Amino acid sequence: MQSVLITGGAGFIGQNLVHAWRAARPDDRLVVVDAMTYAANVRSLEPLMKEGSIVFVRGDIKDAALIRRLFDKHQFTRVAHLAAESHVDRSIVDPEAFLQTNVLGTFTLLKAALDAWRASGTIDRARFLHVSTDEVYGSLGPSDTAFLESSPYRPNSPYAASKAASDHLVRSFVATYAMPALITNCSNNYGPYQHPEKLIPLMIIHALEGKPLPVYGDGSNVRDWLHVSDHCDALMSVIERGRVGETYNVGGGNERNNRDVVGLICDTLNSAFAADQNLASRFPSCPAALAKSCRSLIAFVTDRPGHDHRYAIDATKLATELGSRCSVGFEAGLRQTIHWYLDQEAWWRDVTSGAYQAWIDKNYGFRIAV
Ligand code: NAD
Ligand code: TYD
Repeated sequence: MQSVLITGGAGFIGQNLVHAWRAARPDDRLVVVDAMTYAANVRSLEPLMKEGSIVFVRGDIKDAALIRRLFDKHQFTRVAHLAAESHVDRSIVDPEAFLQTNVLGTFTLLKAALDAWRASGTIDRARFLHVSTDEVYGSLGPSDTAFLESSPYRPNSPYAASKAASDHLVRSFVATYAMPALITNCSNNYGPYQHPEKLIPLMIIHALEGKPLPVYGDGSNVRDWLHVSDHCDALMSVIERGRVGETYNVGGGNERNNRDVVGLICDTLNSAFAADQNLASRFPSCPAALAKSCRSLIAFVTDRPGHDHRYAIDATKLATELGSRCSVGFEAGLRQTIHWYLDQEAWWRDVTSGAYQAWIDKNYGFRIAV
């Protein structure tokens, strides 16, 4: 039995990890700490809180005293560190929060864990998993080989730079203090509970509401799409069986350009509406409600500054060392995700009210059609 701290457990990947961990290891004690920023949502965790199978703490990872108290109380033997500011566009508009949480927050957490594990003499069996991104490696050209764990760091956005800095801090703690830490660098996740500021949910929701689908630049940028359930499986394998001090890349093996992703979302929505007459009355503004193609909403807009052209992950190390492989194909995973958003209208309507609308005005207000 392990005592596990999951930071950022109310975020997209965090919520999925909490559910996956609870299901895979029912005897472990799970404590979630989350500052409840705009990106957080605890609705899916509420049943677990009520039945007492997780402990939820609203708190900031930069609060050293709080983190120390949590270590004293729960004697964690595992830390899965996901708390972060995670949206590239927000890091361009307002980078400071990214440095605060991603760099200083990670430092505070590392130090608290190290001190606690040294004091309790548990450092040999403890593990700290730092969840990071492939964006630290920068951008690939069309025929470059995929990122390896040994690829040089070349971050291009303030978000990627802050994650790169946090990876370096973790590495330095391993080398200097024998911190029992591991790092994962994964590609773009998609699936249930993703905040609608990110590409896939944004496009699904805009299409349902008959709003333009804003594709940055010419839409040729490529991402390697990883279903969040495959990512969570990989994280649990790495924290239990990975080698301390090592980095593991996690990828979906699903490279697609943004034009194709948005086109596939449109076509999948059209098929869903054709198969279910109720959808037309629930979402009358969607072109599919009038049997028109959702592709009519696609609008190419001003590109993101410093927009990385392509990410691709070589996940051979994860597969050969730990036997962890992706099982969700992109078409099936996307269809399942679209149906999740169709079924969970109350969830995303809640998330997209208020502050979300202010963000949409800020990020898309200045973008013109190109
Ligand atoms: P998210 O933005 O959905 O969730 C982040 C969570 O962290 C939120 O619940 C937020 O409230 C919490 N948080 C933010 N600042 C905090 C602070 N100071 N103290 C405590 N909690 C705080 O992000 P996500 O998509 O779930 O990503 C999780 C992790 O995975 C991040 O570290 C991110 O860099 C990494 N990652 C994500 C992706 C992706 O495609 N989503 C890809 C690669 C890596
Ligand atoms: P995003 O989901 O923000 O993830 P990341 O920037 O971390 O890869 O964006 C995925 C891709 O989609 C990226 O190339 C930017 C592009 N994009 C758009 O074209 N339009 C949008 O409205 C958004 C949010 C993203």
